[in-house]
Amino acid sequence: MLKTLITIMNFIGIKRIFLEKTESTNSYASMLLHQDKAEEGLVISTLFQTRGRGQMTNQWYSNKGKNLLFSFILFPDFLSPDKQFYLSKMVSLAIKDFLSSYVNKISIKWPNDIYVRDKKIAGILIENTIQGNIISNSIIGIGININNEQFPENIPNAISLKNILQKSFNLVTLLNDLLIYLNNRYNELLNGNLLLLDKNYLESLYLLNTMHTFSINNQVMKGRIIGVTENGRLLIESNGQKFDFGFKEISF
Ligand code: BTN
Repeated sequence: MLKTLITIMNFIGIKRIFLEKTESTNSYASMLLHQDKAEEGLVISTLFQTRGRGQMTNQWYSNKGKNLLFSFILFPDFLSPDKQFYLSKMVSLAIKDFLSSYVNKISIKWPNDIYVRDKKIAGILIENTIQGNIISNSIIGIGININNEQFPENIPNAISLKNILQKSFNLVTLLNDLLIYLNNRYNELLNGNLLLLDKNYLESLYLLNTMHTFSINNQVMKGRIIGVTENGRLLIESNGQKFDFGFKEISF
């Protein structure tokens, strides 16, 4: 009988650095990598970021000590660069798994925003270093709104766990729990369980198969999300035709 060897490795979070305050945990991780002082699975968490970074040129807003703010380092050299979107899939799914133990209606707004109904509760910033045909390292930064009560007016679609459940949470306990989910989903990737990640990501997509108006390079297009391509582009069907878009080309 042929048996598949499944390896389970729980190394994300074995080593941790806690900082009271830092510019950005992603930037701190990058500095450690440049100094050759980072090992795989290292988690860097903080209570406050003075220059928290979001996707593109956005900033990440977080009140001091209220939310989960951390980054971790992977050396996913088994994954070819054309499959790097699997890192987004596995992290988004891990956060969704984790948050689903507290609230319903969690979805993933492509590419990797985590939503509760129509509001954003978490963001992910993945910075990969590619050398030749190898992802030599990946810095995965996660911000989850936990105990924040109010958000600035310029981010009206943000929501926290406390806004939903009317109670506060212990950040250390939550981080420990989330790391279990991250290790589990990363093991699926390590073990080549790509079909499961594809299936779970697709069924978690915000607005999947729902008619919606998209803004594409400042033009309006009506259509519905039908999936993502292998390299992570968003697939939309509009008037019987299929189109795919990169992150900078579409907003919704
Ligand atoms: C986004 O939705 O735009 C991504 C937000 C990512 C924020 C996290 S908070 C911890 C880590 N450090 C950063 O500077 N950014 C990420």
